Amino acid sequence: MPRAGTQAVDLGGGRGQLTIPVAQLARGYRFLVVDRFEGPYARSRRRLGSAAAALGLSDRIAVRRAEALAWLQAQPSGGFDAILSGEFLPELTSATMQEVLQECHRCLRPAGTCVHLFLSPTPRNKRQSLFIEADADPRWSKRPPVEWFSPPPRLVAAQLRAAGFTGVATERSPSGVAVRGDAARDVLSKMAVKAAFVQAHGAFLDARGLEVPDWVVAVGRKGPGQGPDRA
Ligand SMILES: C[S@@+](CC[C@H](N)C(=O)[O-])C[C@H]1O[C@@H](n2cnc3c(N)ncnc32)[C@H](O)[C@@H]1O
Repeated sequence: MPRAGTQAVDLGGGRGQLTIPVAQLARGYRFLVVDRFEGPYARSRRRLGSAAAALGLSDRIAVRRAEALAWLQAQPSGGFDAILSGEFLPELTSATMQEVLQECHRCLRPAGTCVHLFLSPTPRNKRQSLFIEADADPRWSKRPPVEWFSPPPRLVAAQLRAAGFTGVATERSPSGVAVRGDAARDVLSKMAVKAAFVQAHGAFLDARGLEVPDWVVAVGRKGPGQGPDRA
């Protein structure tokens, strides 16, 4: 059991898609959701507050509206027991991701854990490949990503090691989420995909649909006294 007040941070926690279920499972933990809540995510803060209140979790989930890297850089060393994220690393560039992971290492207490979930950039079938293309290709996406759909798991692992983490591992598992026809069109409109994509791929969307890519979980632990650290 975690000790009372064990403190976890959820970077880019949004409306709590990861924080809420983890908070329900990890009852001894308090959570800090750090998110800038801008643009398409502007309403996430209110949604997180409502969801936490409805589930009786408000006393264990606090929110900081901030840019994640700047917020981490302002924290003292060794203050947190766990730092998590869900679909936050895809929002970064490779250079910023390395800085964020270095700061995660510094901000964790010895033996603290870093856990990052993100969708795999490597499709296992055509339905996943189309999902990735719709989200990341500037021909189709109204908000194409700066660098990638998602970081390669091998790079995340290498950057965790470079930041000083030990026991680094990545694991991939199927999302199990597939949609077809109108349901696929609905998902695409929520992803801000241009109508031209639906026109180009309508027949495939009706016959085969889209599949959310596999989930990747990347973990590392702060070995006591190991790796780059800053006082
Ligand atoms: C795709 S959403 C993921 C939300 C949630 N964590 C999940 O598991 O689904 C990405 C979130 O990261 C936040 N975000 C992106 N870049 C950020 C940054 N540099 N600093 C803080 N928050 C950021 C966005 O506001 C958004 O809430």
